[in-house]
Amino acid sequence: MHTTVGIIGGGPSGLLLARLLHNAGIDSVVLESRDRAYVEQRQRAGILEQATVDVLRDAGAGERLDREGMPHDGIELRYGRRAHRVDFPALTGGRRVWVYAQTEVVKDLVALQLADGGPLLFEAEVHGVEGADTDRPVIRYTHEGREQTLTCDYVVGCDGFHGVARNAVPEGVRTTYERTYPYSWLGILADAPPVYEELIYAHSERGFALASMRSESVSRLYLQVPNGTDPADWPDERIWDELDARFALDANPEWRLKRGTVTSKAVLPMRSHVTEPMRYGRVFLAGDAAHIVPPTGAKGLNLAAADVIVLARAFAHLKDTGSADLLDAYSDTCLRRVWRAEHFSYFMTTTLHADPEQSPFETKLQLSQLDRVATSEHAAAELAENYTGLPLGPAN
Ligand code: FAD
Ligand code: DHB
Repeated sequence: MHTTVGIIGGGPSGLLLARLLHNAGIDSVVLESRDRAYVEQRQRAGILEQATVDVLRDAGAGERLDREGMPHDGIELRYGRRAHRVDFPALTGGRRVWVYAQTEVVKDLVALQLADGGPLLFEAEVHGVEGADTDRPVIRYTHEGREQTLTCDYVVGCDGFHGVARNAVPEGVRTTYERTYPYSWLGILADAPPVYEELIYAHSERGFALASMRSESVSRLYLQVPNGTDPADWPDERIWDELDARFALDANPEWRLKRGTVTSKAVLPMRSHVTEPMRYGRVFLAGDAAHIVPPTGAKGLNLAAADVIVLARAFAHLKDTGSADLLDAYSDTCLRRVWRAEHFSYFMTTTLHADPEQSPFETKLQLSQLDRVATSEHAAAELAENYTGLPLGPAN
């Protein structure tokens, strides 16, 4: 089989890229190692930036998002048992974010691709890419029990942090920047109405907590826990009690989350990681295949979308003009945004979590930083601009 753009991975970045290329009249094949049900149910991100929503709408994948997505105009920060709201539109000239789960984005994109797009093969496991530095790179994969090859003009690795595409960039060319964190998140989904109409990010002496949602009847909640935590050590009542303790407010001692049946429970490790460059020869890396952020600040999915927007524009530019200029600029263009998001995610994570090694002095610095956001319009605007996402210019 031959295609113009061979895409490894059918997560949000691979599926969105395939849709954008299809709309630009460029053919592609998506190879995804898991089955459709697995990909559509995998619980992950929940917040879409304005630019991500705009591109999904432009790509024809915005219909259900417009019906079911929940626009949010701010977040609440809780620290020192007090609450402070950050008003996004007021601080950013009108930008906001949407609650619409990654599972739903993936379902919408899969349905579109299967309806009228190029091939999207599930249970097609890629083993490697050969000839990255030639003009006919080849993807080797197994599908329906048979070893197969896909010959491509270009290959895009959208295969996440544990994928194989990154290995196409030789060791001597690749530089990796990484940081791990001394805590993880315990994430639950619960059949319980969200207690508050916006997300709440809480700093407390007991550790970080986040209240998010999936709908008017489903809550998504996260607790900071030690690395290596076994979810079995957290029975439901312990989780609810701990969440209530971390969200506690002096001004409203009666404040409690609404409890309900916990339908999913998992521990998520945290990591920052960037691989540079994001391109070698005719192989490009996009999304989690190239970079990971800790989830505080909800940048991962949005960063993946930004990469493939830049890449799709570059392929369309090549098709329309014959110029590879934008493809050549891809890695540098993306890395500027990637490092901004890396910094913001690191800032949100280290400002809101309790490091087990942290001194009382460092706790005071965190509280001072949060107070700065609550009292300075400049500091609040800096947070709001990063959270809602920096706009994607027409040329990048
Ligand atoms: P992925 O979603 O990882 O997709 C990669 C795809 O490639 C997968 O479908 C995988 O099956 C496939 N694949 C892998 N290897 C191969 C292979 N060899 N052959 C073929 N296919 C392959 N972000 C937030 O903003 N908020 C969150 O709460 C949040 N929670 C997260 C929880 C977890 C456990 C993880 C891992 C990530 C989370 N993220 C979160 C980050 C966000 O979900 C990712 O940034 C986003 O999924 C990136 O999309 P992607 O398409 O680049 O990668
Ligand atoms: C969600 C996840 C995040 O990491 C975040 O910062 C906000 C919301 C979520 O899953 O809803």
